[in-house]
Amino acid sequence: MAAKAIAIIAGVGAGTGASIARKFAQNYSVALLARNPSNYEPIVKEIETRGGKAIGISTDVTNAHSVRDAFEQIAKAFPGSSLAAAVYNVGGGFARVPFLELSEEQFTAGYESTALGGFLFSQAALPWLITAEGKTEHPPTLIFSGMSSPNSPLVLTITKPLRGEIGATASVRGSANFSSLATGKFALRALSQSLAREFGPQGIHVGHVILDGVIDIERTKHWQFDAPDAKIRPESVSYPAQARREHSPVVIFGFANCSGD
Ligand SMILES: NC(=O)c1ccc[n+]([C@@H]2O[C@H](COP(=O)([O-])OP(=O)(O)OC[C@H]3O[C@@H](n4cnc5c(N)ncnc54)[C@H](OP(=O)(O)O)[C@@H]3O)[C@@H](O)[C@H]2O)c1
Repeated sequence: MAAKAIAIIAGVGAGTGASIARKFAQNYSVALLARNPSNYEPIVKEIETRGGKAIGISTDVTNAHSVRDAFEQIAKAFPGSSLAAAVYNVGGGFARVPFLELSEEQFTAGYESTALGGFLFSQAALPWLITAEGKTEHPPTLIFSGMSSPNSPLVLTITKPLRGEIGATASVRGSANFSSLATGKFALRALSQSLAREFGPQGIHVGHVILDGVIDIERTKHWQFDAPDAKIRPESVSYPAQARREHSPVVIFGFANCSGD
């Protein structure tokens, strides 16, 4: 019997990453990456307790050696498995700072955790995804999570779950005080679009999913909005209505019903 296919998720914490991991773990073995074990250990345990297969690996996606080492460990842990999906969900580098006060370090951190990390992760994942073509239930898939701008007026006034059509987003629009974040997120989107065009013809789906709102996680607890349902529940992220999927014309995994470009 062929080994179970796997999904790799980079950027796993208690919120969005855990939710995506739970979703993929229903059908795949999963490998979860973050720098701190405290961010992936609880969800690894939860998945294993429910009968799924999960491993967590301490990885800094901005470091080429660390990414290479993680992929070697994953290949050893799941010999013969096809890579069904690779998800780049690292946020990191979030800085809400007036531009003239922004340090070079803060600016670079935004770029490194998005564009550089996305580059290193993609270079490690794509060769494995390519060899999975024709062997997995769905086309091998590479997904990047994009982002909205927390000061979007649309987010502040929203009274029902956000729709994909809303577009005031850091991935597609810069905002005052968010130049580091927006620069990195634009770059990640450019990377994903380039990869979609290059690897689409080889049977690989590359998707860029804009999470258009503030996600209700510990880190955003202090952000208050008028509407009680203004924030996105992390468990909704692996489902459609609150995300906008770009690049890939077909419906994949849990992202069904997203409006695509
Ligand atoms: N939070 C929101 O309101 C919001 C809204 C819209 C979109 N998004 C998007 O959703 C995605 C997830 O963001 P998030 O805010 O939920 O979480 P996040 O804390 O920004 O990132 C998720 C995980 O990424 C890991 N991470 C950060 N830097 C890393 C690195 N260099 N190497 C490996 N892992 C790293 C962190 O764990 P470690 O620190 O242990 O590495 C963290 O648990 C991002 O793409 C973000 O832009 C978030």
